Amino acid sequence: MDRGKKPSVLVTGGAGYIGAHTAKALHERGFRPVVYDNLNSGFREAVRWGPFVHGDIRDPVALGEAIEAHGVKSVIHFAGLIEVGRSVTHPDLFWDVNVSGTTTLLTVLRERAVGRLVFSSSAAVYGQGARGALETIAETAEKAPASPYGDTKLAAEWLIQAQCRAYGLSAVALRYFNAAAADPSGVIGEAHEPETHLIPLAIAAAIGDGRPLTVFGRDFETPDGTCLRDYIHVSDLAAAHVAALEVDLAAGAFEPVNVGTGEGRSVSEVVEAVGRAVGRPVPHSVGARRAGDPPSLVADPRRAQDLLGWSAQRSALEDIVADALRWERNPAYGSGLRGSAGRRKSKLTL
Ligand SMILES: NC(=O)c1ccc[n+]([C@@H]2O[C@H](COP(=O)([O-])OP(=O)(O)OC[C@H]3O[C@@H](n4cnc5c(N)ncnc54)[C@H](O)[C@@H]3O)[C@@H](O)[C@H]2O)c1
Repeated sequence: MDRGKKPSVLVTGGAGYIGAHTAKALHERGFRPVVYDNLNSGFREAVRWGPFVHGDIRDPVALGEAIEAHGVKSVIHFAGLIEVGRSVTHPDLFWDVNVSGTTTLLTVLRERAVGRLVFSSSAAVYGQGARGALETIAETAEKAPASPYGDTKLAAEWLIQAQCRAYGLSAVALRYFNAAAADPSGVIGEAHEPETHLIPLAIAAAIGDGRPLTVFGRDFETPDGTCLRDYIHVSDLAAAHVAALEVDLAAGAFEPVNVGTGEGRSVSEVVEAVGRAVGRPVPHSVGARRAGDPPSLVADPRRAQDLLGWSAQRSALEDIVADALRWERNPAYGSGLRGSAGRRKSKLTL
């Protein structure tokens, strides 16, 4: 494809974990990812496949200028605050960035006649709701977020849906289950601070430089008593974004789509898989359940297959753990989990 003709896609939050992997996938597919990020928790080093614009999602002028300057016709919107625990103590900040920020973006998209949006939603919109303990979750399942974080994701979806109806934007809200692992190239990976995700924490504990892992609850109504989650390789997740950007949608369409494998893996299974990959058991203790943790969050992924022609390709637990371990042993930025000296502190908001 002629370099000058590559379609530009604005990737808000593209310096972050999932955004950077998606920027790479966009580049490989012939798009030009324009990363727009305030580096609150993202890394400049993760922006490698297109231009970088330093800006805040709540700044309509900077957003408008970036869209104009780069001839943007579609947007993938990752920018946001993600730590569930902090959303409980700082709900106002989460609503400001995740909901007001999305409102600002939508206004700019309307003003600049941008027709396609792909939004980072989350399985957190579901909570437990009324479904059975081990039922897989379809997009139509009851929405009962168990945290202010989940509330902000659901509220942002409502806003986007209303905006689609009102002026013909077409949008896909991808509800991710548990994003995990790193690009197999080793040039980008997961670098959250603080890290709250199971696989990097289990690796840190097993390598011996992190704290022993706490398993939250072993008395759930699941086969081994620990929570079941649906782990999706971040490269598969990135491919789902490209598919959502390219799918043919009518003007005004809003499509919520689960991104998961349909397979639940228990916390104990993950801990054992990490132990096998590292070559020694993961030191861990069992703590109390966390408030609002459903026993099982496993996607029914059929809509993603039907609408997007997408299914997970690299999300076997062993592959996820191997790719995560390669990154954690040799992170290209951040400091992985092998010490806190070089770690950057993420600010809650800016
Ligand atoms: N990681 C997961 O398992 C998961 C699951 C479901 C949904 N999500 C959603 O996916 C998105 C990306 O998550 P991630 O894991 O890559 O997180 P991340 O923290 O690595 O990335 C978020 C990015 O947004 C940027 N950002 C934050 N506030 C901003 C602001 N005000 N203006 C501009 N940029 C801002 C950060 O600097 C960072 O680069 C988030 O919206 C998150 O809610 C993540």
